[in-house]
This record gives sequence, C-alpha cells and structure tokens, in this order.
Amino acid sequence: MTLPIRIAPSILAADFARLGQEVRDVTAAGADWIHLDIMDGHFVPNISFGPDVIKSLRSYTDATFDCHLMISPAEPYLEAFAKAGCDRITVHAEAGPHLHRSLQKIRNLGKKAGATINPATPISALEDVLDDVDLILIMSVNPGFGGQKFIPAMADKIRRVKSLIGDRPIELEVDGGVTTETAPIVAAAGANVLVAGSAIFKGESVDAYRHTVAELRAAAERGRGGAN
Ligand code: DX5
Ligand code: ZN
Repeated sequence: MTLPIRIAPSILAADFARLGQEVRDVTAAGADWIHLDIMDGHFVPNISFGPDVIKSLRSYTDATFDCHLMISPAEPYLEAFAKAGCDRITVHAEAGPHLHRSLQKIRNLGKKAGATINPATPISALEDVLDDVDLILIMSVNPGFGGQKFIPAMADKIRRVKSLIGDRPIELEVDGGVTTETAPIVAAAGANVLVAGSAIFKGESVDAYRHTVAELRAAAERGRGGAN
C-alpha cells in the first residue's frame, strides 16, 4: 500500500520562546504533521515539554499532532496527551512490558496508535502488534536530541519493516537525521512520513521553512521513484 509522503517538522528544534508562531509558520510552509517530541529525563537523557504545552499549541494549527512519547512508563500519561489534542500517539516498545496494552489504550482514547523502536532494537519487537498499530516509527538516531547524524544501517531496517507491514495501511515514519541527502534513501526504503527538526528549523523565515519542506518532499518523491 502506497501512502502519501508526509513531512513532519519536529518542533524540538524550533524557538521555544515563540512556539505558537513556529507551529503556525511551519504549517503555512506546507508541513503535513507537527511532530511533538516528549522526553522525560529517564527513558532518554533529556527533558522537553508536556501535555500543557501541547494544549496551548492546539489552536495554532489544524495540522495533525503527531506525538512521540520518549517516556517510561508511558501508560499513565496517555489520556493526558490525548486530551491535550494529540491525534497520533506513538510509544516505544522499550518503554515498558505492555506495548500491546498501551496501543489498545491509545485506540480506545479515539487516537491513532504508533509503535517505535530504537536503533538497536530488533524489528521482531513489532511483529506481534502489526494489527494494533496505525503507524510504525523507526528511530534513525538514538532518541534524546535533535541534530544527530542518520545511522546508515537504519535504511535496511526500514526496508525490512516495510515488508513486514505488507498491505496493511500503516504509516511508516522515520525520525532522526533526515535531510535532503537522507530523505531519498529512507523513502526508497519504504518510509512515507519524514520527521525533520534541525533541517527545517535552521531556517529563519517562513520562506526558508517552505523551501526546506518542499525540498524534503521532492527528495523523498525522487527516492520513491527509484531515481536516487
Ligand atoms: C530525537 C527526536 C527527533 C529529533 C529529530 O529524539 O525524536 O524527532 O527532534 O531531530 P533532527 O531532525 O534534528 O535529527
Ligand atoms: Zn521524534
């Protein structure tokens, strides 16, 4: 199943002092989804923001809020993130022993459920939840920080996950080190949702954001067409 290419800017790299405007600007620049990176200083060695910030950003855009929970445990907070206005909530397979229960809970909250794995986690961690997810996120850096380099071995991992997904209408997302150089590689491997933080927010104007979003999309389409 071929799903559209979607560009999902991670606001982790945005200017936190003017987050509302950043979300508005990047939506105007053509972003499909807004990627929200939640970090707890426990599952990952960094702290970002929580549901109250998301709630206050909700009125700045109609774009899908794509929430990536890098927290452990995640389950006690799922309802708060759903109520804050997240449309999609993704949990790490490594964040607790009950991935299936977390995914069920997300769907029961009326949201799209995602599962993600760190670079060192084998894809077998996802095999038994394929019918319980709307999205699979492959981490192409170790989670915790923006601005890291794409781990090349993750391209083959994306390819293997794509074949595991088969015909299911599951969004295949990649997160970490996505640039105009790596976008064709991940799209050729089968990813359709590209998260990009520093590549987009290094720009200093809506026009710069628009330019990068368009470039990333074109690079991904090129990779998908096999022209990479
Ligand atoms: C890493 C986060 C990513 C990160 C991506 O823990 O999940 O979403 O912000 O940033 P870049 O695009 O700069 O690698
Ligand atoms: Zn992320």
